Amino acid sequence: MDTMPMARMGPRKKKPRQMGASMASPAHDIKFRDLVLYILERKMGTTRRAFLMELARRKGFRVENELSDSVTHIVAENNSGSDVLEWLQVQNIKASSQLELLDVSWLIECIGAGKPVEMTGKHQLVARRDFSASSNPEPQKIPPLAVQKISPYACQRRTTLNNCNHIFTDAFEVLAENYEFRENEGCCLAFMRAASVLKSLPFTIISMKDTEGIPCLGDKVKCIIEEIIEDGQSSEVKAVLNDERYQSFKLFTSVFGVGLKTSEKWFRMGFRNLSNIRSDKTLKFTRMQKAGFLYYEDLVSCVTRAEAEAVSVLVNEAVWAFLPDASVTMTGGFRRGKKIGHDVDFLITSPESTEEDEQQLLPKVINLWERKGLLLYYDLMESTFEKFKLPSRKVDALDHFQKCFLILKLHHQRVDSGKSGQQEGKTWKAIRVDLVMCPYECRAYALLGWTGSRQFERDLRRYATHERKMILDNHALYDKTKRIFLKAESEEEIFAHLGLDYIDPWERNA
Ligand code: CTP
Ligand code: MN
Ligand code: MN
Repeated sequence: MDTMPMARMGPRKKKPRQMGASMASPAHDIKFRDLVLYILERKMGTTRRAFLMELARRKGFRVENELSDSVTHIVAENNSGSDVLEWLQVQNIKASSQLELLDVSWLIECIGAGKPVEMTGKHQLVARRDFSASSNPEPQKIPPLAVQKISPYACQRRTTLNNCNHIFTDAFEVLAENYEFRENEGCCLAFMRAASVLKSLPFTIISMKDTEGIPCLGDKVKCIIEEIIEDGQSSEVKAVLNDERYQSFKLFTSVFGVGLKTSEKWFRMGFRNLSNIRSDKTLKFTRMQKAGFLYYEDLVSCVTRAEAEAVSVLVNEAVWAFLPDASVTMTGGFRRGKKIGHDVDFLITSPESTEEDEQQLLPKVINLWERKGLLLYYDLMESTFEKFKLPSRKVDALDHFQKCFLILKLHHQRVDSGKSGQQEGKTWKAIRVDLVMCPYECRAYALLGWTGSRQFERDLRRYATHERKMILDNHALYDKTKRIFLKAESEEEIFAHLGLDYIDPWERNA
Protein backbone atom coordinates (compact mmCIF):
# COMPACT_ATOMS: atom_id res chain seq x y z
CA MET A 1 0.00 0.00 0.00
CA ASP A 2 1.25 3.44 -0.86
CA THR A 3 1.23 5.35 2.39
CA MET A 4 3.54 8.16 1.52
CA PRO A 5 3.06 10.96 4.05
CA MET A 6 1.67 14.22 2.75
CA ALA A 7 4.82 16.15 3.60
CA ARG A 8 6.88 14.06 1.24
CA MET A 9 4.44 14.52 -1.57
CA GLY A 10 4.84 18.27 -1.37
CA PRO A 11 8.01 18.79 -3.40
CA ARG A 12 6.57 16.85 -6.34
CA LYS A 13 4.40 19.77 -7.32
CA LYS A 14 7.55 21.46 -8.58
CA LYS A 15 7.43 19.17 -11.63
CA PRO A 16 7.04 20.89 -15.00
CA ARG A 17 3.27 20.44 -15.10
CA GLN A 18 1.67 23.28 -13.20
CA MET A 19 -1.19 22.65 -10.86
CA GLY A 20 -3.22 25.35 -12.48
CA ALA A 21 -2.81 23.70 -15.83
CA SER A 22 -4.40 20.48 -14.67
CA MET A 23 -7.64 22.33 -14.09
CA ALA A 24 -8.47 22.25 -17.74
CA SER A 25 -6.62 19.17 -18.89
CA PRO A 26 -6.93 16.19 -16.63
CA ALA A 27 -3.59 14.72 -17.63
CA HIS A 28 -4.08 11.76 -15.31
CA ASP A 29 -5.81 8.49 -16.05
CA ILE A 30 -9.04 8.04 -14.17
CA LYS A 31 -8.93 4.75 -12.32
CA PHE A 32 -12.04 5.04 -10.19
CA ARG A 33 -14.85 5.89 -12.55
CA ASP A 34 -17.73 5.49 -10.12
CA LEU A 35 -16.56 8.34 -7.95
CA VAL A 36 -16.79 11.96 -8.97
CA LEU A 37 -15.26 14.21 -6.36
CA TYR A 38 -15.70 17.87 -5.68
CA ILE A 39 -13.58 19.63 -3.09
CA LEU A 40 -15.20 22.50 -1.29
CA GLU A 41 -13.08 25.63 -1.21
CA ARG A 42 -15.03 27.19 1.65
CA LYS A 43 -12.84 27.33 4.80
CA MET A 44 -10.16 25.32 3.00
CA GLY A 45 -8.67 27.97 0.75
CA THR A 46 -7.68 27.98 -2.90
CA THR A 47 -4.12 26.76 -2.53
CA ARG A 48 -4.83 23.77 -0.37
CA ARG A 49 -7.80 22.87 -2.54
CA ALA A 50 -5.71 22.97 -5.70
CA PHE A 51 -3.01 20.93 -3.99
CA LEU A 52 -5.46 18.22 -2.86
CA MET A 53 -7.15 18.16 -6.27
CA GLU A 54 -3.83 17.55 -7.94
CA LEU A 55 -2.84 14.80 -5.52
CA ALA A 56 -6.16 13.03 -5.88
CA ARG A 57 -6.03 13.24 -9.68
CA ARG A 58 -2.54 11.85 -9.66
CA LYS A 59 -3.86 8.83 -7.78
CA GLY A 60 -6.52 8.22 -10.40
CA PHE A 61 -9.49 9.99 -8.87
CA ARG A 62 -11.86 12.05 -10.96
CA VAL A 63 -12.04 15.49 -9.38
CA GLU A 64 -14.31 18.14 -10.82
CA ASN A 65 -13.52 21.83 -10.88
CA GLU A 66 -17.15 22.81 -10.69
CA LEU A 67 -20.05 21.41 -8.76
CA SER A 68 -22.38 19.58 -11.11
CA ASP A 69 -25.01 16.87 -11.07
CA SER A 70 -22.40 14.26 -11.85
CA VAL A 71 -20.58 14.86 -8.56
CA THR A 72 -21.02 11.96 -6.12
CA HIS A 73 -18.71 12.92 -3.26
CA ILE A 74 -18.19 16.34 -1.74
CA VAL A 75 -15.10 16.72 0.39
CA ALA A 76 -14.86 19.55 2.90
CA GLU A 77 -12.49 20.74 5.57
CA ASN A 78 -13.41 22.58 8.76
CA ASN A 79 -17.06 22.43 7.76
CA SER A 80 -19.79 20.69 9.73
CA GLY A 81 -22.48 18.65 8.02
CA SER A 82 -24.99 21.44 8.42
CA ASP A 83 -22.46 23.96 7.02
CA VAL A 84 -22.17 21.90 3.86
CA LEU A 85 -25.91 21.27 3.62
CA GLU A 86 -26.54 24.97 3.99
CA TRP A 87 -23.94 25.76 1.35
CA LEU A 88 -25.53 23.22 -1.00
CA GLN A 89 -28.91 24.81 -0.50
CA VAL A 90 -27.48 28.14 -1.55
CA GLN A 91 -25.96 26.50 -4.65
CA ASN A 92 -29.45 25.31 -5.48
CA ILE A 93 -28.30 21.76 -5.97
CA LYS A 94 -31.35 19.59 -6.15
CA ALA A 95 -29.45 16.32 -6.07
CA SER A 96 -27.97 17.09 -2.66
CA SER A 97 -29.59 14.01 -1.17
CA GLN A 98 -27.56 11.68 -3.34
CA LEU A 99 -24.24 13.11 -2.36
CA GLU A 100 -21.78 11.78 0.11
CA LEU A 101 -20.58 14.65 2.27
CA LEU A 102 -17.16 13.78 3.58
CA ASP A 103 -14.47 15.22 5.72
CA VAL A 104 -11.09 15.82 4.12
CA SER A 105 -9.66 13.04 6.32
CA TRP A 106 -11.37 10.54 4.01
CA LEU A 107 -9.69 12.00 0.93
CA ILE A 108 -6.32 12.06 2.63
CA GLU A 109 -6.71 8.38 3.53
CA CYS A 110 -7.71 7.64 -0.07
CA ILE A 111 -4.67 9.46 -1.38
CA GLY A 112 -2.49 7.57 1.07
CA ALA A 113 -3.99 4.24 0.07
CA GLY A 114 -3.98 5.06 -3.64
CA LYS A 115 -7.60 3.95 -3.87
CA PRO A 116 -11.00 4.76 -2.37
CA VAL A 117 -11.11 3.69 1.28
CA GLU A 118 -14.20 2.73 3.19
CA MET A 119 -16.30 5.66 4.34
CA THR A 120 -17.05 5.37 8.01
CA GLY A 121 -19.01 7.50 10.42
CA LYS A 122 -15.95 9.51 11.33
CA HIS A 123 -15.56 10.61 7.71
CA GLN A 124 -19.19 11.32 6.98
CA LEU A 125 -20.34 14.81 7.72
CA VAL A 126 -23.93 13.74 7.30
CA ALA A 127 -24.86 10.25 8.39
CA ARG A 128 -26.27 8.25 5.50
CA ARG A 129 -29.35 6.18 6.01
CA ASP A 130 -28.30 3.41 3.72
CA PHE A 131 -24.58 3.40 4.26
CA SER A 132 -23.62 -0.25 4.00
CA ALA A 133 -20.95 -2.29 5.74
CA SER A 134 -19.18 -3.23 2.57
CA SER A 135 -16.15 -1.27 1.54
CA ASN A 136 -18.06 -0.43 -1.59
CA PRO A 137 -17.48 3.25 -2.12
CA GLU A 138 -20.07 3.56 -4.87
CA PRO A 139 -22.57 6.33 -4.53
CA GLN A 140 -25.93 5.23 -3.30
CA LYS A 141 -29.34 6.54 -4.20
CA ILE A 142 -31.20 7.72 -1.17
CA PRO A 143 -34.36 9.74 -0.68
CA PRO A 144 -33.89 13.43 0.03
CA LEU A 145 -32.80 14.15 3.58
CA ALA A 146 -35.76 16.35 4.27
CA VAL A 147 -38.38 13.68 3.64
CA GLN A 148 -36.60 10.94 5.58
CA LYS A 149 -38.77 10.38 8.60
CA ILE A 150 -36.89 9.63 11.77
CA SER A 151 -38.13 6.44 13.39
CA PRO A 152 -39.13 6.39 17.05
CA TYR A 153 -37.27 3.06 17.30
CA ALA A 154 -33.49 3.19 17.76
CA CYS A 155 -33.20 -0.03 15.72
CA GLN A 156 -34.40 1.93 12.67
CA ARG A 157 -31.87 4.68 13.08
CA ARG A 158 -28.16 4.71 12.38
CA THR A 159 -26.33 6.04 15.39
CA THR A 160 -22.58 6.34 15.07
CA LEU A 161 -20.26 7.69 17.77
CA ASN A 162 -20.27 10.94 15.84
CA ASN A 163 -22.71 12.71 18.15
CA CYS A 164 -23.14 16.35 17.15
CA ASN A 165 -25.66 17.09 19.89
CA HIS A 166 -23.54 16.38 22.97
CA ILE A 167 -24.62 19.56 24.65
CA PHE A 168 -28.21 18.22 24.73
CA THR A 169 -27.59 14.49 25.13
CA ASP A 170 -25.22 15.00 28.08
CA ALA A 171 -27.91 17.05 29.79
CA PHE A 172 -30.60 14.41 29.12
CA GLU A 173 -28.36 11.66 30.40
CA VAL A 174 -27.84 13.48 33.69
CA LEU A 175 -31.60 13.90 34.06
CA ALA A 176 -32.29 10.26 33.08
CA GLU A 177 -29.75 9.06 35.63
CA ASN A 178 -31.27 11.25 38.32
CA TYR A 179 -34.71 9.78 37.60
CA GLU A 180 -33.18 6.30 37.70
CA PHE A 181 -31.73 7.07 41.13
CA ARG A 182 -35.18 8.21 42.19
CA GLU A 183 -36.73 5.10 40.65
CA ASN A 184 -38.93 7.11 38.31
CA GLU A 185 -38.81 4.73 35.36
CA GLY A 186 -41.13 6.66 33.05
CA CYS A 187 -39.20 9.92 33.18
CA CYS A 188 -35.88 8.07 33.04
CA LEU A 189 -36.91 6.31 29.84
CA ALA A 190 -38.28 9.51 28.27
CA PHE A 191 -34.92 11.26 28.68
CA MET A 192 -32.95 8.23 27.53
CA ARG A 193 -35.07 8.03 24.37
CA ALA A 194 -34.66 11.73 23.75
CA ALA A 195 -30.88 11.45 24.14
CA SER A 196 -30.87 8.44 21.86
CA VAL A 197 -32.79 10.12 19.04
CA LEU A 198 -30.59 13.23 19.13
CA LYS A 199 -27.47 11.06 18.93
CA SER A 200 -28.66 9.77 15.57
CA LEU A 201 -29.12 13.22 13.99
CA PRO A 202 -26.67 14.17 11.24
CA PHE A 203 -26.80 17.83 12.29
CA THR A 204 -26.55 19.93 15.42
CA ILE A 205 -29.75 21.44 16.71
CA ILE A 206 -29.33 25.19 16.76
CA SER A 207 -32.93 26.39 16.89
CA MET A 208 -36.29 24.98 17.95
CA LYS A 209 -37.21 24.75 14.30
CA ASP A 210 -34.64 21.96 13.96
CA THR A 211 -36.63 19.81 16.40
CA GLU A 212 -39.73 19.72 14.20
CA GLY A 213 -40.63 16.22 13.10
CA ILE A 214 -38.20 14.54 15.48
CA PRO A 215 -39.94 11.81 17.50
CA CYS A 216 -39.44 11.09 21.23
CA LEU A 217 -39.20 14.77 22.16
CA GLY A 218 -41.96 15.54 24.65
CA ASP A 219 -42.82 18.98 26.00
CA LYS A 220 -40.50 18.65 28.97
CA VAL A 221 -37.63 17.63 26.75
CA LYS A 222 -38.32 20.50 24.35
CA CYS A 223 -38.33 23.02 27.21
CA ILE A 224 -34.85 21.88 28.16
CA ILE A 225 -33.62 22.04 24.58
CA GLU A 226 -34.95 25.58 24.34
CA GLU A 227 -33.26 26.59 27.57
CA ILE A 228 -29.92 25.15 26.40
CA ILE A 229 -30.19 26.92 23.04
CA GLU A 230 -30.89 30.20 24.80
CA ASP A 231 -28.64 30.03 27.88
CA GLY A 232 -26.12 27.36 26.97
CA GLN A 233 -27.26 25.27 29.92
CA SER A 234 -30.34 23.96 31.69
CA SER A 235 -31.15 25.14 35.20
CA GLU A 236 -32.66 21.74 36.02
CA VAL A 237 -29.48 19.92 35.03
CA LYS A 238 -27.44 22.38 37.05
CA ALA A 239 -29.64 21.73 40.09
CA VAL A 240 -29.31 17.96 39.68
CA LEU A 241 -25.53 18.14 39.37
CA ASN A 242 -25.46 20.06 42.66
CA ASP A 243 -27.94 17.74 44.36
CA GLU A 244 -26.49 15.81 47.28
CA ARG A 245 -28.50 12.68 46.62
CA TYR A 246 -27.50 12.62 42.94
CA GLN A 247 -23.83 13.18 43.74
CA SER A 248 -23.84 10.45 46.40
CA PHE A 249 -25.64 7.90 44.22
CA LYS A 250 -23.31 8.65 41.34
CA LEU A 251 -20.32 8.05 43.60
CA PHE A 252 -21.68 4.92 45.33
CA THR A 253 -22.81 3.22 42.10
CA SER A 254 -19.35 3.79 40.64
CA VAL A 255 -18.22 0.94 42.91
CA PHE A 256 -18.44 -2.47 41.22
CA GLY A 257 -21.25 -4.40 42.94
CA VAL A 258 -23.09 -1.37 44.29
CA GLY A 259 -26.57 -0.77 42.89
CA LEU A 260 -29.51 1.41 43.79
CA LYS A 261 -30.53 -0.51 46.92
CA THR A 262 -27.13 -0.31 48.57
CA SER A 263 -26.71 3.33 47.55
CA GLU A 264 -30.09 4.16 49.07
CA LYS A 265 -29.11 2.44 52.30
CA TRP A 266 -25.75 4.21 52.58
CA PHE A 267 -27.31 7.56 51.71
CA ARG A 268 -29.95 7.13 54.42
CA MET A 269 -27.28 6.18 56.90
CA GLY A 270 -25.72 9.57 56.20
CA PHE A 271 -22.69 8.49 54.19
CA ARG A 272 -21.55 10.96 51.57
CA ASN A 273 -18.11 9.70 50.57
CA LEU A 274 -16.44 6.37 49.92
CA SER A 275 -13.62 6.55 52.44
CA ASN A 276 -16.06 6.63 55.38
CA ILE A 277 -17.91 3.65 53.95
CA ARG A 278 -14.70 1.75 53.31
CA SER A 279 -13.49 2.17 56.86
CA ASP A 280 -16.83 1.58 58.61
CA LYS A 281 -16.61 -1.54 60.73
CA THR A 282 -20.36 -2.14 61.02
CA LEU A 283 -21.09 -2.36 57.30
CA LYS A 284 -21.14 -5.74 55.58
CA PHE A 285 -19.93 -5.91 51.98
CA THR A 286 -20.61 -8.55 49.37
CA ARG A 287 -17.66 -10.30 47.73
CA MET A 288 -18.32 -8.18 44.65
CA GLN A 289 -18.28 -4.93 46.62
CA LYS A 290 -15.07 -5.92 48.40
CA ALA A 291 -13.43 -6.42 45.00
CA GLY A 292 -15.03 -3.16 43.87
CA PHE A 293 -13.34 -1.21 46.68
CA LEU A 294 -10.05 -3.09 46.38
CA TYR A 295 -9.61 -2.29 42.68
CA TYR A 296 -11.64 0.92 42.67
CA GLU A 297 -9.07 3.22 41.05
CA ASP A 298 -8.32 0.80 38.22
CA LEU A 299 -11.98 0.02 37.56
CA VAL A 300 -13.16 3.64 37.39
CA SER A 301 -10.40 4.55 34.96
CA CYS A 302 -11.85 3.26 31.72
CA VAL A 303 -10.53 0.36 29.67
CA THR A 304 -8.73 1.55 26.54
CA ARG A 305 -8.90 -0.23 23.20
CA ALA A 306 -5.25 -1.27 23.52
CA GLU A 307 -6.07 -2.85 26.88
CA ALA A 308 -9.15 -4.54 25.43
CA GLU A 309 -7.01 -6.01 22.63
CA ALA A 310 -4.52 -7.30 25.20
CA VAL A 311 -7.36 -8.92 27.17
CA SER A 312 -8.63 -10.41 23.93
CA VAL A 313 -5.28 -12.16 23.45
CA LEU A 314 -5.51 -13.58 26.99
CA VAL A 315 -9.06 -14.81 26.40
CA ASN A 316 -8.22 -16.39 23.04
CA GLU A 317 -5.16 -18.16 24.44
CA ALA A 318 -7.10 -19.59 27.35
CA VAL A 319 -10.18 -20.61 25.35
CA TRP A 320 -8.18 -22.25 22.58
CA ALA A 321 -6.17 -24.25 25.09
CA PHE A 322 -9.37 -26.17 25.85
CA LEU A 323 -11.62 -25.74 22.79
CA PRO A 324 -9.46 -25.20 19.69
CA ASP A 325 -12.43 -24.72 17.37
CA ALA A 326 -14.15 -22.11 19.52
CA SER A 327 -14.78 -18.65 18.17
CA VAL A 328 -14.24 -15.72 20.50
CA THR A 329 -15.84 -12.40 19.58
CA MET A 330 -15.39 -9.12 21.38
CA THR A 331 -18.88 -7.71 21.85
CA GLY A 332 -20.28 -4.75 23.82
CA GLY A 333 -19.11 -1.20 23.29
CA PHE A 334 -15.79 -2.12 21.69
CA ARG A 335 -17.59 -3.99 18.89
CA ARG A 336 -19.56 -0.78 18.30
CA GLY A 337 -16.27 1.03 17.75
CA LYS A 338 -16.00 2.73 21.13
CA LYS A 339 -12.47 3.74 22.10
CA ILE A 340 -13.04 3.19 25.81
CA GLY A 341 -15.34 1.02 27.90
CA HIS A 342 -16.12 0.12 31.48
CA ASP A 343 -15.35 -3.53 30.76
CA VAL A 344 -14.50 -5.89 27.89
CA ASP A 345 -17.23 -8.30 26.75
CA PHE A 346 -16.67 -11.58 24.92
CA LEU A 347 -19.00 -14.11 23.35
CA ILE A 348 -17.67 -17.64 23.02
CA THR A 349 -19.22 -20.41 20.96
CA SER A 350 -18.04 -23.58 19.31
CA PRO A 351 -19.52 -25.49 16.37
CA GLU A 352 -18.32 -28.97 17.29
CA SER A 353 -18.39 -29.06 21.05
CA THR A 354 -20.71 -31.24 23.10
CA GLU A 355 -22.93 -29.76 25.76
CA GLU A 356 -20.46 -31.03 28.34
CA ASP A 357 -17.48 -29.31 26.63
CA GLU A 358 -19.50 -26.13 26.60
CA GLN A 359 -20.35 -26.39 30.24
CA GLN A 360 -16.76 -26.99 31.26
CA LEU A 361 -15.03 -24.33 29.22
CA LEU A 362 -15.52 -21.31 31.46
CA PRO A 363 -14.59 -23.20 34.68
CA LYS A 364 -11.42 -24.44 32.94
CA VAL A 365 -10.51 -20.95 31.74
CA ILE A 366 -11.06 -19.53 35.23
CA ASN A 367 -8.95 -22.28 36.71
CA LEU A 368 -6.12 -21.57 34.29
CA TRP A 369 -6.10 -17.86 35.12
CA GLU A 370 -6.27 -18.63 38.82
CA ARG A 371 -3.14 -20.80 38.52
CA LYS A 372 -1.40 -18.03 36.59
CA GLY A 373 -2.31 -15.52 39.30
CA LEU A 374 -4.39 -13.40 36.91
CA LEU A 375 -7.76 -13.86 38.56
CA LEU A 376 -8.70 -11.05 40.93
CA TYR A 377 -12.44 -11.77 41.11
CA TYR A 378 -14.97 -13.98 39.40
CA ASP A 379 -18.63 -14.83 39.56
CA LEU A 380 -19.63 -17.80 37.44
CA MET A 381 -23.30 -18.06 36.59
CA GLU A 382 -24.41 -21.46 35.45
CA SER A 383 -26.59 -21.75 32.41
CA THR A 384 -30.31 -21.85 33.08
CA PHE A 385 -30.95 -22.34 29.43
CA GLU A 386 -33.93 -24.42 28.38
CA LYS A 387 -34.08 -25.01 24.68
CA PHE A 388 -37.79 -24.94 24.06
CA LYS A 389 -38.84 -22.18 26.38
CA LEU A 390 -40.51 -19.14 24.90
CA PRO A 391 -38.31 -16.07 24.64
CA SER A 392 -38.78 -13.69 27.49
CA ARG A 393 -41.27 -10.87 27.17
CA LYS A 394 -39.26 -8.54 29.37
CA VAL A 395 -37.40 -5.86 27.44
CA ASP A 396 -34.50 -5.81 29.89
CA ALA A 397 -34.48 -9.51 30.74
CA LEU A 398 -31.20 -11.25 31.42
CA ASP A 399 -30.33 -14.27 29.35
CA HIS A 400 -29.82 -17.86 30.43
CA PHE A 401 -26.34 -18.48 29.05
CA GLN A 402 -23.51 -19.62 31.20
CA LYS A 403 -21.48 -16.51 31.89
CA CYS A 404 -18.77 -15.15 34.06
CA PHE A 405 -18.17 -11.66 35.39
CA LEU A 406 -14.51 -11.26 36.21
CA ILE A 407 -11.78 -8.89 37.22
CA LEU A 408 -8.52 -9.81 35.56
CA LYS A 409 -5.00 -8.71 36.29
CA LEU A 410 -3.61 -7.26 33.07
CA HIS A 411 0.15 -6.75 33.11
CA HIS A 412 1.22 -3.48 31.50
CA GLN A 413 3.79 -5.24 29.33
CA ARG A 414 0.95 -7.10 27.59
CA VAL A 415 -0.56 -3.81 26.39
CA ASP A 416 0.61 -2.33 23.11
CA SER A 417 1.67 1.06 24.37
CA GLY A 418 3.25 -0.56 27.40
CA LYS A 419 2.50 2.22 29.85
CA SER A 420 -1.21 2.91 29.77
CA GLY A 421 -2.42 3.91 33.20
CA GLN A 422 0.82 2.86 34.81
CA GLN A 423 1.35 3.75 38.44
CA GLU A 424 4.64 3.65 40.28
CA GLY A 425 5.50 0.19 41.48
CA LYS A 426 2.31 -1.46 40.25
CA THR A 427 2.94 -3.40 37.06
CA TRP A 428 -0.67 -4.28 36.24
CA LYS A 429 -4.20 -2.93 35.98
CA ALA A 430 -7.43 -4.57 37.14
CA ILE A 431 -9.86 -4.94 34.23
CA ARG A 432 -13.53 -5.95 34.28
CA VAL A 433 -14.26 -8.72 31.80
CA ASP A 434 -17.55 -10.44 30.88
CA LEU A 435 -17.44 -13.86 29.26
CA VAL A 436 -20.54 -15.47 27.79
CA MET A 437 -20.72 -19.01 26.46
CA CYS A 438 -23.59 -19.75 24.11
CA PRO A 439 -24.79 -22.81 22.18
CA TYR A 440 -23.76 -22.61 18.53
CA GLU A 441 -27.36 -22.36 17.23
CA CYS A 442 -27.94 -19.20 19.27
CA ARG A 443 -24.75 -17.40 18.33
CA ALA A 444 -26.34 -14.80 16.03
CA TYR A 445 -28.97 -13.88 18.64
CA ALA A 446 -26.39 -13.83 21.42
CA LEU A 447 -24.07 -11.66 19.35
CA LEU A 448 -26.86 -9.21 18.56
CA GLY A 449 -27.92 -9.14 22.21
CA TRP A 450 -24.43 -8.63 23.61
CA THR A 451 -23.35 -5.97 21.15
CA GLY A 452 -25.79 -3.38 22.51
CA SER A 453 -26.19 -0.58 23.04
CA ARG A 454 -28.74 -1.15 25.74
CA GLN A 455 -31.07 1.39 24.17
CA PHE A 456 -30.67 -0.25 20.78
CA GLU A 457 -31.51 -3.67 22.30
CA ARG A 458 -34.53 -2.29 24.14
CA ASP A 459 -35.90 -0.82 20.95
CA LEU A 460 -35.23 -3.99 18.94
CA ARG A 461 -37.35 -5.91 21.44
CA ARG A 462 -40.01 -3.23 21.59
CA TYR A 463 -40.12 -3.14 17.80
CA ALA A 464 -40.37 -6.94 17.53
CA THR A 465 -43.25 -7.00 20.01
CA HIS A 466 -45.27 -4.01 18.85
CA GLU A 467 -44.61 -3.92 15.13
CA ARG A 468 -44.11 -7.60 14.25
CA LYS A 469 -45.91 -9.65 16.91
CA MET A 470 -42.64 -11.41 17.60
CA ILE A 471 -40.64 -11.98 20.75
CA LEU A 472 -36.91 -11.35 20.59
CA ASP A 473 -34.33 -12.08 23.24
CA ASN A 474 -30.65 -13.04 23.43
CA HIS A 475 -31.44 -16.66 22.43
CA ALA A 476 -34.13 -16.63 19.79
CA LEU A 477 -36.88 -14.92 17.83
CA TYR A 478 -40.38 -16.28 18.12
CA ASP A 479 -43.12 -15.48 15.62
CA LYS A 480 -46.37 -15.44 17.57
CA THR A 481 -48.53 -15.46 14.46
CA LYS A 482 -46.85 -18.45 12.87
CA ARG A 483 -45.99 -19.97 16.24
CA ILE A 484 -42.46 -20.81 15.21
CA PHE A 485 -38.92 -19.97 16.22
CA LEU A 486 -37.01 -18.26 13.42
CA LYS A 487 -33.53 -19.62 12.88
CA ALA A 488 -30.65 -17.28 12.07
CA GLU A 489 -27.04 -17.84 11.10
CA SER A 490 -26.09 -14.18 11.19
CA GLU A 491 -27.21 -10.83 12.55
CA GLU A 492 -28.22 -9.84 9.01
CA GLU A 493 -30.75 -12.70 8.98
CA ILE A 494 -32.27 -11.53 12.27
CA PHE A 495 -32.78 -8.02 10.91
CA ALA A 496 -34.32 -9.57 7.80
CA HIS A 497 -36.71 -11.71 9.90
CA LEU A 498 -37.80 -8.52 11.64
CA GLY A 499 -38.22 -6.69 8.33
CA LEU A 500 -35.57 -4.17 9.32
CA ASP A 501 -32.72 -2.70 7.26
CA TYR A 502 -29.43 -4.06 8.52
CA ILE A 503 -27.67 -1.76 10.96
CA ASP A 504 -23.94 -2.27 11.43
CA PRO A 505 -22.53 -2.58 14.95
CA TRP A 506 -20.88 0.87 14.80
CA GLU A 507 -24.28 2.35 13.93
CA ARG A 508 -25.90 0.87 17.06
CA ASN A 509 -24.56 3.48 19.48
CA ALA A 510 -28.07 4.58 20.31
N1 CTP B 1 -26.10 -7.42 28.20
C1 CTP B 1 -27.05 -8.40 28.31
N2 CTP B 1 -27.25 -9.03 29.50
C2 CTP B 1 -26.51 -8.69 30.58
C3 CTP B 1 -25.54 -7.70 30.48
C4 CTP B 1 -25.35 -7.06 29.26
O1 CTP B 1 -27.71 -8.71 27.34
N3 CTP B 1 -26.71 -9.34 31.71
C5 CTP B 1 -25.88 -6.77 26.90
C6 CTP B 1 -26.46 -5.39 26.85
O2 CTP B 1 -27.38 -5.32 25.80
C7 CTP B 1 -25.29 -4.50 26.57
C8 CTP B 1 -24.16 -5.42 26.17
O3 CTP B 1 -24.52 -6.71 26.65
O4 CTP B 1 -25.57 -3.65 25.51
C9 CTP B 1 -22.86 -4.99 26.78
O5 CTP B 1 -23.06 -4.63 28.13
P1 CTP B 1 -22.14 -3.61 28.91
O6 CTP B 1 -20.77 -4.13 28.97
O7 CTP B 1 -22.81 -3.32 30.20
O8 CTP B 1 -22.26 -2.28 28.05
P2 CTP B 1 -21.39 -1.72 26.87
O9 CTP B 1 -22.35 -1.30 25.84
O10 CTP B 1 -20.33 -2.68 26.48
O11 CTP B 1 -20.76 -0.42 27.50
P3 CTP B 1 -19.32 -0.26 28.17
O12 CTP B 1 -18.44 0.19 27.04
O13 CTP B 1 -19.47 0.79 29.21
O14 CTP B 1 -18.91 -1.57 28.73
MN1 MN C 1 -19.01 -3.56 27.90
MN1 MN D 1 -20.34 -5.97 30.13
